[in-house]
Amino acid sequence: MDSNTEHPAPFAASRALPRAARIGVARVRRAVARSPQSLFLRELVAQPGAVGAICASSPRLAARMAGHVEPAAGLVVELGGGTGVITSALLARGVAPERLVVIERSAALADLLARRFPQVGVIHGDAAELARLHAQGLLPPGADGAPLPIDCIVSGLPLLSIPPPARQHILRAGVQALAPHGRLLQFTYALRGASPWQDAGLARLHSERVLANLPPARIDVLGHAARR
Ligand SMILES: C[S@@+](CC[C@H](N)C(=O)[O-])C[C@H]1O[C@@H](n2cnc3c(N)ncnc32)[C@H](O)[C@@H]1O
Repeated sequence: MDSNTEHPAPFAASRALPRAARIGVARVRRAVARSPQSLFLRELVAQPGAVGAICASSPRLAARMAGHVEPAAGLVVELGGGTGVITSALLARGVAPERLVVIERSAALADLLARRFPQVGVIHGDAAELARLHAQGLLPPGADGAPLPIDCIVSGLPLLSIPPPARQHILRAGVQALAPHGRLLQFTYALRGASPWQDAGLARLHSERVLANLPPARIDVLGHAARR
């Protein structure tokens, strides 16, 4: 038996299958290619700095982030939704979908989020636009049509791998948009050191490590300095 016969290539093996089975294999391949994990990996290869992680956050990290959110009357804005691990945890925490807005820069990931969470306000755009979107009334309003305050910003942005000028725009927009009483949550893989949000003027109120994530992460809870 030659080596080709002993270890037939997967392609040759699928050609040897009956037609119905070949169609099944093709469907599985397409489903895998469209799965959240493969989309995340493809975006990582295309935009390593913007994605900034080797895989999506663990459900444990997402739940711990969501645990710091108090579902209230205002908006919760998630920056960098990715495949929706944290979005899902925020909904499980009790955040009303119509009060939740997710801003995601990747078109493919924004499309995935919009399909996964049809009631959530998914915006394909840049987190640096947050203050402008809010000021121009382009975020979901309250029942009376009036703009809602942004009570909480939940950031999964890889701030440390975003180039400094773009990072500054994001930080400025976040600080400007956050309500005076609001909270901003950021996770980072840097287990020590100040948060870039502190450099931008917010005060760190709480910090904790989550080891059950790849890699281990730190969650910072921040707010406007005057409200400490
Ligand atoms: C580390 S991944 C986190 C994804 C998800 N939140 C999670 O925890 O698994 C960072 C995400 O931020 C998005 N992103 C990067 N820069 C962005 C920007 N300026 N505005 C909006 N989203 C951005 C990336 O496309 C990616 O989906």
